[in-house]
Amino acid sequence: MSHIFHLDGCSILLGDLKAHFPAWLRERGYSRLFLVADTNTQELCLPCFLEKTSLQEGFSIEVMPAGERFKNLDSCQHIWLSMLDARLDRRALVVNLGGGVVGDLGGFCAATWKRGVDFVQVPTTLLAMTDAAIGGKLGIDFQGVKNTLGVFQNPAAVFVDPSFLKTLPERELRSGLAEIIKHALIGAPSLLEKIMAECVGVPIGDALSDDGWAGVLHASIAVKVRIVQDDPMEKGVRALLNFGHTIGHALESYFLDTAEPLTHGEAIAIGMICESRMGGAVNLEDIIAVNKCFFTHRHIPASAFSALWDLMRQDKKNAAGAVRMTLPGDEPFSMRMVEVKREMMEEGLAFYNSI
Ligand SMILES: NC(=O)c1ccc[n+]([C@@H]2O[C@H](COP(=O)([O-])OP(=O)(O)OC[C@H]3O[C@@H](n4cnc5c(N)ncnc54)[C@H](O)[C@@H]3O)[C@@H](O)[C@H]2O)c1
Repeated sequence: MSHIFHLDGCSILLGDLKAHFPAWLRERGYSRLFLVADTNTQELCLPCFLEKTSLQEGFSIEVMPAGERFKNLDSCQHIWLSMLDARLDRRALVVNLGGGVVGDLGGFCAATWKRGVDFVQVPTTLLAMTDAAIGGKLGIDFQGVKNTLGVFQNPAAVFVDPSFLKTLPERELRSGLAEIIKHALIGAPSLLEKIMAECVGVPIGDALSDDGWAGVLHASIAVKVRIVQDDPMEKGVRALLNFGHTIGHALESYFLDTAEPLTHGEAIAIGMICESRMGGAVNLEDIIAVNKCFFTHRHIPASAFSALWDLMRQDKKNAAGAVRMTLPGDEPFSMRMVEVKREMMEEGLAFYNSI
């Protein structure tokens, strides 16, 4: 399956990289390519990327340690220094080969390098293919708070090739499923039915073929594209994509420096349950049922509530000191904004602990 979405001048090319990337690159005439990868994607995705794109020379590469803990200013500094060494000019292209961390970080470095050079996202995780690589939000964590420094800047293109999923660990596939489930709950009920029909009770890696994944990704990306098209700078409906993230980001940050960090998707999956409970969502039982099919339960200790509340107070969606969350409304693509009080958060988390 092959498909091209168009989003504010950015093409999102779904399908075999070989069919899209070389021709796209030939038309552009960039002075040089600068690849950003992490240690895992260097080992597991770079050989395939080079083979599919027939790239042999004319590029430099910067490899960062893998993981959210490295989505920070130190890593930016390494990348910018490496760009300086490579004498990267403004006609260069930055290629981010990796999950959401590489995409957010490499994109941020590209968007700020000499006031901005072109970059493309080549997402290699399910989460990045369906969500992080699309929509032009770039950024890094600062002082332990998620995505505090960042910019909006669309990539020149996004190349979504599901064949990269073959090496992705089961836990990371499930993490990506959380954002797909979010998109389904926001605006694609039939996508949820497909996931429940095909992915329950089997290792996710075995559930779908490349074409099967392309079909799921097509439906999921379509939701994100529609919302970003309507509201590129998040002045309105784009906040809907933050469903589950007010609690989820706080959980992700809180557990990041513990012995058992949560993946982004695992944190969002918990966040969607808590926020649905807090907002009195009518489909709460369905959301719990879906969650139980794909995610193991993680107890949130009451001793964490205070720190979680502090993290939530730093959330970007807040206005005039009030903590806010967004929930899907009754109609597809409609939303409700709800103000969160600390007692609500505590009740939501306690409810999650009890299910
Ligand atoms: N910009 C946005 O709009 C947006 C949206 C959602 C999430 N995000 C961000 O995305 C990040 C989470 O992304 P993620 O879940 O992709 O995390 P990630 O980038 O850390 O990738 C998860 C793990 O998988 C490894 N990996 C990547 N591709 C692989 C492959 N093909 N085979 C084997 N291993 C592979 C990585 O090295 C890493 O260890 C968070 O920082 C989140 O804030 C951004």
